Amino acid sequence: PRCIWLSRHGESIYNVEQKIGGDSILSERGLAYARKLKDMIEENAPGETLTVWTSTLKRTQETAQFLSFKKLQWKALDELDAGVCDGMTYEEIEAKYPEDFKARDADKYEYRYRGGESYRDVVIRLEPVIMELERQENILIITHQAVLRCIYAYFMNVPQEESPWMAIPLHTLMKLEPKAYGTKVTALKANI
Ligand code: G3H
Repeated sequence: PRCIWLSRHGESIYNVEQKIGGDSILSERGLAYARKLKDMIEENAPGETLTVWTSTLKRTQETAQFLSFKKLQWKALDELDAGVCDGMTYEEIEAKYPEDFKARDADKYEYRYRGGESYRDVVIRLEPVIMELERQENILIITHQAVLRCIYAYFMNVPQEESPWMAIPLHTLMKLEPKAYGTKVTALKANI
């Protein structure tokens, strides 16, 4: 039966520094998750051949590095582009762009970063990915929080407007199994 496996990248240097965006590498902990991910897949999908889809950013590719499956990079899986706020912490954004910070909180789905994207923009650029996903067997997607929220909402039939507020934890592998009655989700937490 067809399965979709989803994971955020392991903890990155920017995650540790609480900065958004960028193209940083994994922290030691993030690297430990990348190693653990290989074991978790072997344990939970024994003998299965998956195809791994990542974004074009280092942190997703490093998270996939120990998996010996075919890999494909999608630019459409890159993190929501924070435009001028890329590389800043939320505190810095609030201090430098207080109006924007408020506007985003008021309508996180529609708010578009200056020179960047909104969640709606991400949902639109994900359309070809979702279409291809519907045609494929067993795919493991390693991507970013905002992107995963949109993909998860699509398969779980959650209205996209709610997706910006969903919690997608780090270091957790999610297994989605489309069934007649809906999608069955199993969350497997890596203890690292
Ligand atoms: O770095 C960006 C986050 O993955 C998205 O978080 O949309 O809740 O600010 P946010």
